[in-house]
Amino acid sequence: MKPVAFNNTVLRDGHQSLAATRMTTAQMLPAAPILDEMGFAGLETWGGATIDSCLRFLGENPFDRLRALKKAAPKTPQLMLLRGQNIVQYTSFPDDVVEAFVKADAAAGQDIFRIFDALNDTRNLATAIKTVRACGKHARGEICYTTSPVHTIDAFVAMGIELEKMGCHSIGIKDMSGVIAPRIAYDLVKELKKRVGLPITLHTHDTAGLGASAYLAAIDAGVDAVETSIVPFANGTSQPDTVRMIALLEGHPRCPQFDPAKLQQLREYFTGVYAELGKFTSPANERVDSDTLCYQVPGGMLSNFRNQLKEQNMSDKFEQVMAEIPYVRSCLGWIPLVTPTSQIVGTQAMLNVKFGRWKNFSAPAMDIALGKYGRTPGPIDKDVLALAIQKSGQKPVEGRPADALAPRMDKLRAELAAANLPTDDEACVLHAMFPVEFAKLHKKPAAPAPAPATVSSAAPQPAAAAATGATRRFALTVNGKRTEVTVSEIS
Ligand code: CO
Repeated sequence: MKPVAFNNTVLRDGHQSLAATRMTTAQMLPAAPILDEMGFAGLETWGGATIDSCLRFLGENPFDRLRALKKAAPKTPQLMLLRGQNIVQYTSFPDDVVEAFVKADAAAGQDIFRIFDALNDTRNLATAIKTVRACGKHARGEICYTTSPVHTIDAFVAMGIELEKMGCHSIGIKDMSGVIAPRIAYDLVKELKKRVGLPITLHTHDTAGLGASAYLAAIDAGVDAVETSIVPFANGTSQPDTVRMIALLEGHPRCPQFDPAKLQQLREYFTGVYAELGKFTSPANERVDSDTLCYQVPGGMLSNFRNQLKEQNMSDKFEQVMAEIPYVRSCLGWIPLVTPTSQIVGTQAMLNVKFGRWKNFSAPAMDIALGKYGRTPGPIDKDVLALAIQKSGQKPVEGRPADALAPRMDKLRAELAAANLPTDDEACVLHAMFPVEFAKLHKKPAAPAPAPATVSSAAPQPAAAAATGATRRFALTVNGKRTEVTVSEIS
């Protein structure tokens, strides 16, 4: 039996989950050659919130980070997390920007692209998959795992079959909330292995303490790879620790071999980095907490909501808001909770509790109802849809949302030229997603301070929201009243 492959996430999801995405390239580089020697099948180093954090807080060019890591760890394939048509932002971008991003990333050394869509609408993955293939790189189609009446094993497997037809080289099960139970992981992997002819990876989080056992069950079912991290950037809301996972597999015919002395060396090194990032770490994220199972929402969303409700003097409404989340999800076609839908659903649940159901229909939630983010897994509640049509004065989008977007690359290049900034494709795609931060990176090398911004409820998209790296503050102006919310990225 083939040993199970481990991908390592310490340089991306590990610090995104536990240290607000603040690990710098300088902090990564000393560990990169050791990680490269370990025998990991892949190192996740890029994407998710790292690009935002590089530009906003660390004063770093994210493409330079990738090049530096490729040089320091040339042997192990590097992975990134790509939000399909949203790239690494919250809104849809036209195909030419998605294509330019993938090409620039591939040229900078990216090997494996983990491509997902928050709604599991495969049309939002199509352009990215096609471009990754054209670049001769590995496209991993990700199935966002969530629980709902419409999210059955059969539905997930059907999506896996579709991703295979679309040209993916492998399939990932992406359990961002850490809610997949071992038995379900077993059944899902078994069924995917039977019906899809591609390697399968399971990615989960140890938020509720299920991660390592879900991996073990998936390994028994024949999963090809799982993703682990390195303590202290492991466990809790991050991936299970590599050492723990190996211990769990002792005597198992698929147990992989890793040098324990080198793993110890990595642990010692990252313990120092974790201490340096002490300002951004929190005991609440480190501990295993079954609340996430109780409320069926990602761990990051829970800690977020506690703060948010406190700010709103609504702490006593926590249970009510949590109970409202499944209701909002059911009305919005049972969308998975992952960036950006987790933020949109959470905020709408809070508004429903605060002002009454749908009395304040947030613009992004309305956009979901109108199909602007893509096709939802289940149908939109017909009364909610009617309300969205009436309030927005717009018709629901039937086709692929990006089909409505005009090409932007020429315009982006012209804007950069006019601002006397670099005009290559890397510059264009960063400017498309983070215009203010990208300009600041070139004008002032120092990390800029986050500034609060406003999204009015009339704004068509949440992209203009102020971001603070892994957490963002949204200001919703509703009937002239300003409501501020803090949201965090979940991936
Ligand atoms: Co993750």
